[in-house]
Amino acid sequence: MAQHLYSQLQITKDEAHTLSEKFFGITGTATPLPGEVDFNFKIKTSEGNSFILKVSRPGMDYQYFDFQLKILLHLADTAPEITVPKIILNKDGYPNSTFNDHFGEVRLVRMLSWIEGRLWSSVHPIHNKLLYDLGKSGGKITFALQSFQHPFAKRNFEWDIDQALWIENYVHLFDTDKNIIVTHFLKKFVAQKKQLDLLRKSVIHNDTNDNNILVNNSPDHPEVLSIIDFGDAIYTSTINDLAVCIAYAIMEKPDPLAAAVQVVKGYHEKFVLLDAELNMLHLLVAMRLIISVTKSARNKLAEPNNEYLLISEKPAWEVLRLWLKVDEHLAYYSFRYACGMNPHPDQEMFNLWAKDHPFGIADLFPTTGIKEASHIDMSVGSTWLGHRTDFTDNDWMAYKIREWTKKHPETMVSNGYLETRPFYSTNAYRKEGNHGPLYRTVHLGVDFWLDGHTPLHAPMDGEVFSIFDNDQDKDYGPTIILLHEYGPEKVFFTLYGHLSKSTLHTVSIGQTISKGQHIGYLGKANENGNWSPHLHFQIILDMLGNRHDFPGVAFPSEIDIWKSICPDPNLFLRQKVLHPKEGKNQTDIIQYRSKHLGKSLSLSYAEPLHIVRGDGAWLIDKTGRRYLDTVNNVAHVGHEHPRIVKAGQAQMALLNTNTRYLHESINEFAEALLATLPPELCVIHYVNSGSEANELALRMAYTYTGQKDMMAIEVGYHGNTNACIGVSSYKFDGKGGKGKPKETHLIPLPDAYRGIYRGEDCGPKYAAHAETILHQLASEGKKPAGFIHESIISCGGQIVLPKGFLQKVYHSIRTAGGLCIADEVQTGCGRVGSHWWAFEQHGVVPDIVTIGKPIGNGHPLAAVVCTRAVADSFANGMEFFNTFGGNPVSCAIGQEVLKVVREEGLMENAKIIGNNILSGLNMLQSEFSIIGDVRGSGLFLGFELTDNNLMPLEKQTSYLANRMRTLGILMSTDGPDHNVLKIKPPMVFNRENADELISRLRQVFKEDTMKVG
Ligand SMILES: Cc1ncc(COP(=O)(O)O)c(C=O)c1O
Repeated sequence: MAQHLYSQLQITKDEAHTLSEKFFGITGTATPLPGEVDFNFKIKTSEGNSFILKVSRPGMDYQYFDFQLKILLHLADTAPEITVPKIILNKDGYPNSTFNDHFGEVRLVRMLSWIEGRLWSSVHPIHNKLLYDLGKSGGKITFALQSFQHPFAKRNFEWDIDQALWIENYVHLFDTDKNIIVTHFLKKFVAQKKQLDLLRKSVIHNDTNDNNILVNNSPDHPEVLSIIDFGDAIYTSTINDLAVCIAYAIMEKPDPLAAAVQVVKGYHEKFVLLDAELNMLHLLVAMRLIISVTKSARNKLAEPNNEYLLISEKPAWEVLRLWLKVDEHLAYYSFRYACGMNPHPDQEMFNLWAKDHPFGIADLFPTTGIKEASHIDMSVGSTWLGHRTDFTDNDWMAYKIREWTKKHPETMVSNGYLETRPFYSTNAYRKEGNHGPLYRTVHLGVDFWLDGHTPLHAPMDGEVFSIFDNDQDKDYGPTIILLHEYGPEKVFFTLYGHLSKSTLHTVSIGQTISKGQHIGYLGKANENGNWSPHLHFQIILDMLGNRHDFPGVAFPSEIDIWKSICPDPNLFLRQKVLHPKEGKNQTDIIQYRSKHLGKSLSLSYAEPLHIVRGDGAWLIDKTGRRYLDTVNNVAHVGHEHPRIVKAGQAQMALLNTNTRYLHESINEFAEALLATLPPELCVIHYVNSGSEANELALRMAYTYTGQKDMMAIEVGYHGNTNACIGVSSYKFDGKGGKGKPKETHLIPLPDAYRGIYRGEDCGPKYAAHAETILHQLASEGKKPAGFIHESIISCGGQIVLPKGFLQKVYHSIRTAGGLCIADEVQTGCGRVGSHWWAFEQHGVVPDIVTIGKPIGNGHPLAAVVCTRAVADSFANGMEFFNTFGGNPVSCAIGQEVLKVVREEGLMENAKIIGNNILSGLNMLQSEFSIIGDVRGSGLFLGFELTDNNLMPLEKQTSYLANRMRTLGILMSTDGPDHNVLKIKPPMVFNRENADELISRLRQVFKEDTMKVG
């Protein structure tokens, strides 16, 4: 047969159409599909039925087609629950048809049924469940093919991993870094080929790549429908099928091992895997990828037009680079874990041995004479650790530990095994997982807190495996690792970290050590990363290729694997207190809440958060995972701002009473607050919450005017008291609401984007509704008590009031004798960037301003500021007493908040960063039409999701908030149609935070659920 070029063999759409009609009597439009060997077309008939037409290349072996045919028949016969394409017979009742092409070459034509779905490559995002589902689908096929045989199955085939040695002839095609990868795995493959030959063999699919996996069309609940195309099936090591499946499933995943584990888990459920197979799986995955890139490299030369050959080259190299960094033993242990085995195969044997060979604290530090441990909680939520600025202050920590030791002289401060620690919730311990960032926070050793230079002794016989000064590249001083034998060819290691420099000369590598031998000293603070002196002690069953050092902390998601590699030191030490305090688990907390807390208290997110620590713009959960917070405007100057914490702590230590006594801070805070407001607003009443502030403001208005009718804005929210609910359409018009009280009168939500009037000039039109209401009241012989409003309507969906609206309404109300109340509970204290108070953006001065959330930075503090006239009329003889309002602690905190806003330039920051976010959102809006409107001011922003007809998209909004939470960013949703995402972060939100927010939003906007027609 003559050699023809790929382009000369190609079948046109017209030819496909004709072949379909001629052989199968099926008339339809033909669309080309990818295929390495065959030329494939989708044939769609006018009745909406679809088929797949496959035209062979010339000179193919008929056995090959028979092989594929028989596989499909076998699966249909033995495993009808597996969805695979059905064979469509030609007009004569046969599966195969032939014709001669323009070269006179015989070409074979087949037709299969079409399975409606989408390709794996088009699914975004790919969740763990889908990977697991893929594993199950692959495992089912492997299982069903165990009983299948065919003479063609045993053939030479370059895609067969068992036959991968052909690659040796092509290593020269790769340049340096690619060459290193290929050579690395090839060498291992050659070395382990004999083991591979001993593994189970069977016919396998051998090509579960992302263009052969069909997924259903549901964007929210994707499931694997079918694995198609048995053209690469072969008789080989059975485990290769899983290796192939993993090789493609881990592409474009930042954490390929985590993705692979899910596939293995699903696969093992349907086809039980053996330990020897799991042991080779990491290498076999690499070899499949290497086959792929080698074929691409070679075929690039031979068939430059065949794009299919190049499709998977780039991601294959990317994943190979990542896969090379995955320790093969760690992969093996992870795969064992996925199959329900102990991750480390020797775990049980070691545990038994360790229990028979106990040693005590006194064996490690005989000079101290201490035998017992006492535990200090150093977990993420530890109140003993306190503020970040406390636990990163070495002198302070050393002092606290000394004080503890004085009180517990017979014990040694010890802690840490599997403790989730806050020290590691930083970028240095962060990696990008497949579902957002992960932090390596779980401690794998125990710590013993002692004086610097305490002598350290070996607790058992061993040999010095390594001694190394980690100060050079990491900040924690010299480390000794001892090797111990515990059975024939069974060893484990003990690691001693944070030692003194002098230890480097105490022992040497290879030296035999006997139990009780002095091996070094604890480092002083300046020798061990500036920590208070302590020993980090860890047991390691497998050094995972490390020589001088070993990870001392692990990712919470991998902890079951790591605790098998680094067993519990308490197996030897038997000190119960070394274990972290067992907190309540998430389910228990939720269950208790649902039983004993009011059902109307809600929890955010489909998967609720258990936050135990705050730090600036971040919230940190129990596992040490950090979440960037765009929700909590209450933590105005940052979560647990050290100055606010100190101000509260300091005053609380002295006195906390009430406003019936004289106290400087009550006046000083008043003075500082009034300085931010227009001079007309000059009298303060302190309260404890926004609701209380608005309750009081309403009372003042009623008292001042002697009237009861109040005007408010549709979808406004002003608090949870009776009177506040009465003016909060968000509540009385919402779920469980009883409708508008007769004294409340609503102006329609002045939404310039989707409201009843739209566009820039709609302000006066909305304001005219106030006039109408006042006329109506007048016609009933009534006057208004006042008008209550926010200046950017928060619950209404961050609605920025249109130009001219407030001025006009204020004028109307005042003309009718009413008061104007500006609710600054959400928007105040510089949040809008341009002014201290949002009403100032509209050139109005209210009669009463209510201030809440931000002023206490999380402490319950609120205030009502009004004009002298209003205050005087309110002081009608009845005392206004508020037990907690204006107590010295609250005032000290409020005063410090105002100082921090000024001294850290946070209003200016809100303006700059707010504008950065706005321009980022505007850019996203030009990329994704689902973003209907972007609005807001400073760090009080919002964007709205709508379809092309401006219809609100609630489902997508909720999806976006939940996905962002998964990816490590907290967002909240609101608006009458629940389609607005609100952005109102702590005011310390910086440029890096803003960039992260925009880039994560972009990531989610690309996902399937966010696609609207
Ligand atoms: C605009 C506005 N006013 C008043 C309140 C009530 O404040 P608090 O919850 O502190 O009582 C809220 C609370 O969300 C609010 O958003």
